[in-house]
Amino acid sequence: MYDEIFKPINIGNLTSENRVIFPPISTNFGGEDGHLSDLFMRHYERRAQGGVGVLIIENSCVSYPEGKHGAYEPRIDSWEFAEDWEKLTKRMKKYDSLLSVELTHEGWKKKDVDFLSKEKIEEIISDYATAAEIACKSGFDMVEVQGAHGLLINQFLSPLTNNRKDLWGDRTRFAIEIRKEIAKRCGWDFPVTIRLAVDDFKEGGITLEEGKRIATVLQDYYDMIQADIGLGPKELRLEPMAFEQGWRAYLAEKIRPLKVPVVAVGMIREPQVAVNILRTKADMIVLGRTLIADPDWLIKVRDGRIKEIRRCIGCSECIKARHDEDTRIRCGANPEVGREIEIKEAEEKKRVAIIGGGPGGLEAARIAAMRGHEVHLFYDEFGGTLNLAALPPGKDKIKWLIEYYSKELKKYANLEMHNKKAIKGDVETLNPDVVIMATGSKPFLPCPPIRNFVYLYDEVLRGEVKFEGKSIVVGGGGLVGCETANLLAEKNKVIIIEMLPEVAQGMETLSRKYLLKELRKKGVRILTNTRLVDVAREKLIVERDGEQRFIEADALIAAFGLRPFVPFRLDDVPMHIIGDAKSVRNIYSAISEGFEIARTL
Ligand SMILES: Cc1cc2nc3c(=O)[nH]c(=O)nc-3n(C[C@H](O)[C@H](O)[C@H](O)COP(=O)(O)O)c2cc1C
Ligand code: SF4
Repeated sequence: MYDEIFKPINIGNLTSENRVIFPPISTNFGGEDGHLSDLFMRHYERRAQGGVGVLIIENSCVSYPEGKHGAYEPRIDSWEFAEDWEKLTKRMKKYDSLLSVELTHEGWKKKDVDFLSKEKIEEIISDYATAAEIACKSGFDMVEVQGAHGLLINQFLSPLTNNRKDLWGDRTRFAIEIRKEIAKRCGWDFPVTIRLAVDDFKEGGITLEEGKRIATVLQDYYDMIQADIGLGPKELRLEPMAFEQGWRAYLAEKIRPLKVPVVAVGMIREPQVAVNILRTKADMIVLGRTLIADPDWLIKVRDGRIKEIRRCIGCSECIKARHDEDTRIRCGANPEVGREIEIKEAEEKKRVAIIGGGPGGLEAARIAAMRGHEVHLFYDEFGGTLNLAALPPGKDKIKWLIEYYSKELKKYANLEMHNKKAIKGDVETLNPDVVIMATGSKPFLPCPPIRNFVYLYDEVLRGEVKFEGKSIVVGGGGLVGCETANLLAEKNKVIIIEMLPEVAQGMETLSRKYLLKELRKKGVRILTNTRLVDVAREKLIVERDGEQRFIEADALIAAFGLRPFVPFRLDDVPMHIIGDAKSVRNIYSAISEGFEIARTL
């Protein structure tokens, strides 16, 4: 069924064993000094173990410090770093993946390229070639140049940022000269591929029609072309969860046919989607976050174990770490990212009671069972809060995580499921050696629970209460409040009141931007710095800037916040509280803590 994925393909004079590329994904696992770390190498080894056809190491700096892109970007600008790269390629040699590295110069985002002198341009071209030479001599099979995402080559390609009147005003020239200089140093048989902005998604920038023209010119120089996005909005190339799978594969389709392989990228998560793209739109596909969440994706597809795939849910935790915090990446679905450790069988087998079937409890159960403990998992709803989190518009990918655990936990005979709310007596009777409390949180209600007027947000999300054509106030503009408002606004007039100066605080920037845009589109009014003072039927009193006012409404939906919930404790039994039961946060924290505690039991 999935044969298309496993067909070999030539890239220059090399052959990729399958059609999958792991793209550059900055990890921040290196050092601030541009050197690589052991974790960095283990992370990539783990991806290569999964049998990916081409593995491209994250963006690496060709001109230091001016072209640096991110605090922990690896450096490939000087021979001083060649030893690190050689160490990496040696470790990767035992895998079949073709090994590449992305050569990046950030450029000058606030300026056009027009200010660069001819000499400076030639110097940068030489920097790219030096970097390629370091890669080639260090044992890489090929290199990729970053010609998209608004970085330097893209800046030369785009009419928005290149208005030069000299020869460099021929916008493909810079990319061509880089390729020629690399060939001079490494030979034409050392393949060079390009991640190309075929559409800037910005008025006045590269249109797809022009992108096709650029790709047609560059096919004479580059050995593979990936159809990517240019200077435009970042959320289009680091898509939030709501985007449809493979939505931008049409970019690859539109620049085909070329005489070199054309690659599609963006939100390709499931093998059937991958196959459909390979049948009609592209020669190869990029699986980025897909392989972060599950490095064994290809092995599972090859072996027909599709339901065992841990699909990337698009939670953007990796993007938050990399782009908002400039810290090491982490994954909301795969707690091994950033750890890359082997799970070892427990030396002393214990009886482990896990209370709660949300993400933290499920992950703890998976790891504890894998390590051979006798595991008892108590839950009243399998998946816990994941079930609720998957209900607002555009959030259904969260269900994938429930499906994953549901399949995964069935593998273990030493794991007993107790589909019931755990009461203290049940757990005591079990006489466990250790208890993991993963009971999540409960909503907090700072106003009287007036019947038929005040409702909890979860009643709305679950469809237990329905509204149409009503005026509704959502109390609390955190993530939960905003997403509940997003659902309600499909059929009602909605106002969000939030005490803080901003709503949806703490969300990853691009996903937040997307959610706020959705709310705006649906006409949701947002009142920040606004405190609920009193509630009477159909009337709320709120205070803003010291002034009180009434808001008339048909209902108040309480999404004021959540409080950790720990239903009981056992005397004399060690207990670990994880996830929201410890402190209210998100899926990543719950899964990560479940993993960590179960790994060390
Ligand atoms: C955390 C993170 C870091 C990324 N770093 C890079 C990078 O170093 N260079 C690059 O060209 N693209 C980078 N990207 C973009 C990815 O290579 C890829 O194009 C994008 O994630 C879309 O593909 P996907 O949906 O398969 O993940 C990054 C993406 C993420 C999520
Ligand atoms: S952190 Fe979230 S978006 Fe990133 S790879 Fe993991 S599941 Fe996907």
